[in-house]
Amino acid sequence: MSSVSLPNPTFEIDAEGIGWITLNDPDRRHNVLDEGVMARLNECIAQAQGHAERGEMKSLVLISGKSDGFLAGADLAAIASISDPADGQEKARLGQQIFKQIELLPVPSIAAIDGICVGGGLELALACRHRLASDRSSTRLGLPEVQLGLLPGWGGTTRLPRLVGLQAALELLLTGNPISASKARRIGLVQRLLPAPGFRAEVAAFARSAPALPPGASRPARSLFKRLGDETIPGRAAVLAVARRNVIAKTQGHYPAPLKIIDVLRASLGRRLDDALEIEARAFGELTATPVHANLLHVFHLREDARKTSTRYPGLQPETIERMGVLGAGVMGGGIAQLAAFRDVDVRLRDLRDEAIIGGLQHAQGLFDKAVERRKLSRTEAARKMARISGGLDWHGFRQADLVVEAVVERLDIKQQVLAECEAQVHDGCIIATNTSSLSVDDMAAVLKRPERFAGLHFFNPVHRMPLVEIVRGSATDDETVATLHAFVVRLGKVPVVCRDASGFVVNRILGPYLNEAGFLLQDGATIQEIDAAARAFGMPMGPLRLLDEVGLDVGRHAGAGFHAAFGERLAPAPALVALEGSDRLGRKNNRGFYLYQRGRETGVDEAVYSELGEHVPTVRGMQAGGPEMPAIRERLVLAMINEAARLLDDGIVTRAADVDLAMIMGTGFPPFRGGLLRLADTLHPRELMARLRRLEASLGMRFAPAPLLERLAHEDRTFYEVFGDTPQ
Ligand SMILES: NC(=O)c1ccc[n+]([C@@H]2O[C@H](COP(=O)([O-])OP(=O)(O)OC[C@H]3O[C@@H](n4cnc5c(N)ncnc54)[C@H](O)[C@@H]3O)[C@@H](O)[C@H]2O)c1
Repeated sequence: MSSVSLPNPTFEIDAEGIGWITLNDPDRRHNVLDEGVMARLNECIAQAQGHAERGEMKSLVLISGKSDGFLAGADLAAIASISDPADGQEKARLGQQIFKQIELLPVPSIAAIDGICVGGGLELALACRHRLASDRSSTRLGLPEVQLGLLPGWGGTTRLPRLVGLQAALELLLTGNPISASKARRIGLVQRLLPAPGFRAEVAAFARSAPALPPGASRPARSLFKRLGDETIPGRAAVLAVARRNVIAKTQGHYPAPLKIIDVLRASLGRRLDDALEIEARAFGELTATPVHANLLHVFHLREDARKTSTRYPGLQPETIERMGVLGAGVMGGGIAQLAAFRDVDVRLRDLRDEAIIGGLQHAQGLFDKAVERRKLSRTEAARKMARISGGLDWHGFRQADLVVEAVVERLDIKQQVLAECEAQVHDGCIIATNTSSLSVDDMAAVLKRPERFAGLHFFNPVHRMPLVEIVRGSATDDETVATLHAFVVRLGKVPVVCRDASGFVVNRILGPYLNEAGFLLQDGATIQEIDAAARAFGMPMGPLRLLDEVGLDVGRHAGAGFHAAFGERLAPAPALVALEGSDRLGRKNNRGFYLYQRGRETGVDEAVYSELGEHVPTVRGMQAGGPEMPAIRERLVLAMINEAARLLDDGIVTRAADVDLAMIMGTGFPPFRGGLLRLADTLHPRELMARLRRLEASLGMRFAPAPLLERLAHEDRTFYEVFGDTPQ
């Protein structure tokens, strides 16, 4: 039987003269605004207009027919299809015109928001005369366009500051982060919070009384200071100037959208609505044509794609993890236990020492306390989740575990012993995973009876903050195990990247030559400040030497030795870094590294470090003294990463360029505006990269010899994404 799609949205008038436009996309989990929905919405509004003019409709409600969401925004495929600025501008105008019809209705219009209401959804709500929100925790309102390198172009940039004031609007527009219904109520974005049970009936009651209400929403009281900043011309100018300074300090000007939003507000506040909408539409069109928008959209798709276990592993039903064991209650074990409990998994921690268990529990408790402080959890919820974690020195609870994550000390012999012991305690179907960052998963699997149920699950430190988890597939790991771990990582709210077992996996392997190159740059006369500044100017959240301090120079050295052993001479440690071996500089953890630290805060470069870098390092340094220039520093750092990423793909450690890009963005903060390491490589093109690497190889040595894959791509005139576009493991 052929199915005919139901119209969406629908319009009807009830017996009491209230019009209802109901959004309910039959084909999607969330409502979105695509071309078809917008056209149909336009028809519904026209119908409503007719009824209102004939006196048959007292008020109009816009509501969702979904049980869990109002509107998730505009359809991204439609945004991605915008061909040029004029097309973008036209699409913005079209949406603006449709929403404007709501504003012009002769009767009150009411957006009834129960669940998520973001992007175009909130813009639609802003065009209504009243906004009501349900009090459930999933009701969140926001304008995330800036996160895709855009601005709200269907009236949101214009209407939001007029409704809530410039300062409150800036926070939403510039961060793109959604806010809760109660915060929306506090800033005047919604007028009333209604209880989620019986929401529709409450909305109907409001709609009956709406014609008697004054048209303008009453703004919550604001301080004199807030009013000066929101309402006076010099006040607004000052607020916008500060906002601009903050944006530049945070983004170094790499992201055009927040700056454009500020420009639009400066040009349009105080102007007639139509003029302001025109400024907004034009600016939207311009932003759609920026490479940063294209890159951010690409990254968004990478993230969404990584969440889909079912398309990655068709036909496999991932098992649900309800109970979990964690071996080792240290920094990582404690963090992993807390994260799992946060997502409602029961956790049993095991360690050899009581103090470690107490430490692990305290660590978890501290994180829950912070979540309460930040209003992410209520006190009761936090206590309930914390109660899911227990710990001890025995194997109590492991027989029931669906998954055990091992996070004991980084020594193969100890891990092998612990894992074999663990396998004897758990049931046959239990998956065992190791959190090792530098040992071989296969070496550990060698001592197990069920290596097919064993894999790596590499969390990054600190677990609660770092979004990436590498799932390391050993040679015996079976598909069900990988699929189950994939689904579990997604459930934890993290981004999974699946890779094969080889030294450094993905992120650390690519960081290896990058960090090492910083050592060679020191040797060639660059200063610590210059090296780190070049990386930051490229967009990395911190420079390589600052990162080495963060990781710990001892840990970095240990990893470097591992890479040298695994990959040979091209990864021989830079002599300047080797020279620090004898010193007691460990980095941030003992307050002395390339930088000095006091109470955990960095206080600047430690100039004394230069004298410890050995005879390899010139005494006079810096660009003025003939050291490498900033572009050369940057080129060496970035090409070292791209070249290693090419080897990693060639070795089959990951099979898709997207995996490298996602891993680097989520695991190291590689700048999203560049779209990813290999997307950047493609923009530069393998041919050009080859030429540059050859030049570096000639002047600096074989560590810059182009990876064979890069040579192949250059020769065939193809890009990474063309060849490694989509072949999941
Ligand atoms: N710290 C990091 O930045 C980081 C990041 C990613 C991965 N890792 C990996 O995670 C693992 C743990 O690292 P960590 O930093 O949490 O170490 P840690 O030293 O803080 O904790 C290790 C814990 O394991 C316990 N332990 C030792 N032998 C044990 C045994 N037989 N049974 C049970 N517990 C035992 C120790 O008592 C200690 O409490 C290592 O494999 C490490 O490489 C660490």
